Amino acid sequence: MTKIAVVYYSSTGNIAAMANAIGEGAQSVGAEVRVRQVAETAPAEAIASNQKWQDHFDAMRNEPIATLEDLEWADGIALGSPTRFGGPASQLKAFLDTTGGLWFKGALVNTVGTAFTTASTAHGGLESTTLAINNHFYHWGSLIMPLGYGDAHVSKVTGNPYGASHFSRKGARPDEDALKACFIQGRQLAQVSSWVAAGKSGN
Ligand SMILES: Cc1cc2nc3c(=O)[nH]c(=O)nc-3n(C[C@H](O)[C@H](O)[C@H](O)COP(=O)(O)O)c2cc1C
Repeated sequence: MTKIAVVYYSSTGNIAAMANAIGEGAQSVGAEVRVRQVAETAPAEAIASNQKWQDHFDAMRNEPIATLEDLEWADGIALGSPTRFGGPASQLKAFLDTTGGLWFKGALVNTVGTAFTTASTAHGGLESTTLAINNHFYHWGSLIMPLGYGDAHVSKVTGNPYGASHFSRKGARPDEDALKACFIQGRQLAQVSSWVAAGKSGN
């Protein structure tokens, strides 16, 4: 069974919803899936200053936190973060910066990697965040899988081949179109990861 880890950070729930849709897409083609948030690192006062952030933090308090073992376990890895000043959130980066040991032993070489994000505006950094997340995959030796334009939903509706994305202007939650792009990305990640895994084992 192909193993897919969806690892993300979300303050107010948009990326969390997208991560779940990616997981559902991977499951739809039979993959074993772990959807994992990374640990929150912001101080309690910062979280409390935004009711949506506090509510999401409280709702997720008992959900599992991503570990290095989740990455080592996976054939395919989807990384997601809200856009923060044009790049990924420090919470995701803090987790990724603990992967030096895995990098050193080549544990993530030939995993398949893909990225997704959300920003407040369409031109507020969706692509720059996706590309910045992808930098980690280059260093790990992963094979980067873009969302691409292979599915008509992406080419005709959502239009971002770098990775699934959503812009949340005025508090909009990821809509059906954005979640469908996530589902497609998760399904594609599982399919491509299964081909790579089969190639590695000579099947
Ligand atoms: C500190 C901070 C920086 C942000 N930077 C950007 C940005 O550069 N561009 C943008 O369009 N939105 C930016 N946003 C908005 C978030 O990316 C957006 O609200 C996102 O949908 C939140 O996702 P989440 O619900 O998963 O936390 C920023 C938000 C915060 C709190």
